[in-house]
Amino acid sequence: MSIEKTITVKVNGNVVKLVAAAHRTLLEALRHEGFVEIKCGCEKGDCGACAVLLNGEAVDSCLTLAWHVDGCEIITIKGIGQPGKADPLQKAFIETGAAQCGYCTPGMIIAAKALLEDNPDPSLADIKRGLSGNLCRCTGYTRIFEAVQLAAEEFRAEGESA
Ligand code: FES
Ligand code: FES
Repeated sequence: MSIEKTITVKVNGNVVKLVAAAHRTLLEALRHEGFVEIKCGCEKGDCGACAVLLNGEAVDSCLTLAWHVDGCEIITIKGIGQPGKADPLQKAFIETGAAQCGYCTPGMIIAAKALLEDNPDPSLADIKRGLSGNLCRCTGYTRIFEAVQLAAEEFRAEGESA
């Protein structure tokens, strides 16, 4: 018999109730609720495709049990930027051609967002380390790193003009 309970989280600013069994991952619970922008890759913490911001930290939702996040705030790729006003990271990924098939892109942008919140002026080594939990089969990574550098410049310019 599986025991279920209802947990309440905020996803992209909206209160969401998730009914989940004790063994259910946050990835499964959120995708079941329609948040299919969170990609499902390896389901064992290797690829980073399933990354979300959990109270501001990038986590692999496939390694996080839904029961453990009751009361937490979650941001998915859809919670970054707004319609008509893309986040500098989203713009930079487009401008540099850092997204090809796009499957890794939500997780990459989530990881990059967490990195830049923590370190607004990362070196290339910092960026490589910050994205080391995210795999991409298409781009060879160079353009992804360029996109994060470009977005970091834009964030810093925004900060200076604010
Ligand atoms: S699906 Fe979670 S790390 Fe790959
Ligand atoms: S763009 Fe295809 S996996 Fe990264």
